[in-house]
Amino acid sequence: MTVTTPPVVDAGPDTPTAGATLRVVVVNGSPSRQSKTLGLVDVVLDTLGRMLPVEASQVDVYRLGPGFTGALERDDVTPDVDAMLRLAEDADLLIAAAPVYRGSYPGMFKHFFDLIDQYALANKLVLLAATGGGEHHALVLEHAMRPLFAFFQALTVPVAIFASAGDFDGVTLLNPRVYGRIEMGLTDVVDLLTSRATGVRATADS
Ligand SMILES: Cc1cc2nc3c(=O)[nH]c(=O)nc-3n(C[C@H](O)[C@H](O)[C@H](O)COP(=O)(O)O)c2cc1C
Repeated sequence: MTVTTPPVVDAGPDTPTAGATLRVVVVNGSPSRQSKTLGLVDVVLDTLGRMLPVEASQVDVYRLGPGFTGALERDDVTPDVDAMLRLAEDADLLIAAAPVYRGSYPGMFKHFFDLIDQYALANKLVLLAATGGGEHHALVLEHAMRPLFAFFQALTVPVAIFASAGDFDGVTLLNPRVYGRIEMGLTDVVDLLTSRATGVRATADS
């Protein structure tokens, strides 16, 4: 299992949210050591870190081990796996990131969410990100990932982020169009993210 917690990225003292921190948890569905999916996530986190203070953690589902793969239900998981599930359940922002496998998300990625409490993600902000070998399966974000989080009654960010092999040099994202889409997607929800970071929940009339 891998959980990394990079240092808090502080947006600076003159930002409206200085002092408050957004707890971001990346659920990474890629088994790759050198991962394009994580290359894409790096850019998302960098962009986010320029907007508000962020504390990021990462759960690599392919490294959770037998206490994860052998569990059919939540009660079956080992305590260390339970801690990873709780980390995701308690996030202010979840980044659900996966490579496309056979036109959908990898089975191990889905298995992680099979073990998440049915109501733990209700009203939680979830940013969807995926990479594929080509552009043909970009709609995996809309036909597979978004419906999964609709089941959980999560609040998915309207702009989902996709990049394909041609957008990278190795695992470094190069395509400025994808950078622009990340900027747009996060800017759309920055007020909501800010309210989550300060612990003030947005209401219908705010
Ligand atoms: C088993 C498997 C199935 C794949 N299926 C697809 C697919 O259906 N469509 C696609 O565009 N890419 C497919 N790919 C390519 C990966 O989605 C692509 O290389 C991705 O960027 C890998 O991400 P990673 O570097 O984070 O592991 C597949 C790769 C593997 C290993």
